Amino acid sequence: MHEFLGNICAIVGAQWGDEGKGKLVDILSERFDIVARSAGGANAGHTIYANGQKFVFHLLPSGLLHKKSIGIIGNGCVVHLPTLLEEIAEIKKLGADPTGRIFLSDRAHLIFDYHQKIDCIEEERKGKDCVGTTKRGIGPAYTDKARRNGIRAGELVNGFAEFSAKFRNNVEKHQEVYGFAEDIECELERYKKIAAEIKDMVCDTTEYIRDARRAGKTVLVEGAQGTHLDLDFGTYPYVTSSNTTVAGACSGTGIAPSRVESVIGILKAYTTRVGGGPFPSEDTGEYGEKLRAIGSEYGATTGRPRRCGWLDIPVARHAVLVNGIDYWNVTKLDVLSEFATIKILTNYKFNGKELSSFPANLETLEHVDCEYIEMPGWQSDISGCRTFAELPETAQQYIKKIEELTDTPVKFIGVGMDREAMIMS
Ligand code: GDP
Ligand code: IMO
Ligand code: MG
Repeated sequence: MHEFLGNICAIVGAQWGDEGKGKLVDILSERFDIVARSAGGANAGHTIYANGQKFVFHLLPSGLLHKKSIGIIGNGCVVHLPTLLEEIAEIKKLGADPTGRIFLSDRAHLIFDYHQKIDCIEEERKGKDCVGTTKRGIGPAYTDKARRNGIRAGELVNGFAEFSAKFRNNVEKHQEVYGFAEDIECELERYKKIAAEIKDMVCDTTEYIRDARRAGKTVLVEGAQGTHLDLDFGTYPYVTSSNTTVAGACSGTGIAPSRVESVIGILKAYTTRVGGGPFPSEDTGEYGEKLRAIGSEYGATTGRPRRCGWLDIPVARHAVLVNGIDYWNVTKLDVLSEFATIKILTNYKFNGKELSSFPANLETLEHVDCEYIEMPGWQSDISGCRTFAELPETAQQYIKKIEELTDTPVKFIGVGMDREAMIMS
């Protein structure tokens, strides 16, 4: 199945997250042996509807509902272990016991409650300029990593005395700056128990993947967030704190870039964003509300309403550029079914001139003039379509227009929430 995907495939979000990555990961997990998360933490919320049940993955790779799937949490991730253990308990309840199928990189940095407290304090201090983070402690944990103060999963399981000393020191240092309360002894007790629970999961996942590849196994790397939340290429500073682009898929797993055989970009048929920051095609009026209502655009992690707007082609082209996207999965095409006309943002202009690249300068991005084209809608239910030919002519034209404007072929089209609601070519 899907030979064009090769042995190692990376899935990346093209917009601002929540494009529907989890759904394709779940579908493709039948074909790949291993699914690896490479970046981010429980800021992600990847929703899957399968067998009449809903499941939201935050830290665990979204392939685990398939009983043979091996899940890896790579070195590039930041992991709040209590959240991970809760998620494992949840998936057990759904009858897909992941015991023995999850491996956590010994190099992955840990998120502690104090990171979450700092996240909240930092956001409060920023006031109206806040990023609108998920308050999961992501930024503070990556800050500790870059500052070389971080604590890695391997350290917790390899020597509790050293871990305790480092933990204590970190809390005290942060308390000096942020002044939050923390019961250090209680936290250490908690982590002693957690260390015993996760010991068997922690390993060198890069070697695990190498050995698996030597044995002929295949790997799907599951991106989290989206290209425009990337620390380097996103709308900085309104971004997350990791590389969400394909480079992060490699640095966050230890898979060499030359070994990635295909990159799939997940592109929602319109655009959404949660949190602050520029969003050129945002529609704060009737259309935005309609997209939110039909697409159930509420955050899977925080429940916040997502900001909505039309498809933005400069955003999609920028994603193709920085990820080398080979194929698109256009998702949620069915959400556009009720619209008589559908708009596509094709170009940005600034001071009367067309911009040839995606602007780094937020002032520019906030004030671009957006050029739109209008496409006729189809106004019929497409959720039962399983081939491209079954789609109404105007829906086909919409997909072809995306291919033409982004110079990238569409191989998967999402037409509904369920696992089955996907046109694959
Ligand atoms: P992710 O973070 O990229 O995995 O995306 P989320 O799970 O946060 O958000 C995508 C939402 O859209 C989820 O509720 C999915 O179940 C849903 N979804 C995914 N693909 C489709 C689709 O093709 N049609 C519809 N109607 N819903 C979809
Ligand atoms: P998935 O994987 C959508 C956003 C937050 C905020 C910014 C920084 O489900 O697509 P953070 O907590 O990471 O420091 O927040 O990034 N954000 C996401 N938005 N989907 C996500 O993940 C997100 N993860 C973070 O809303 O604007
Ligand atoms: Mg999500």
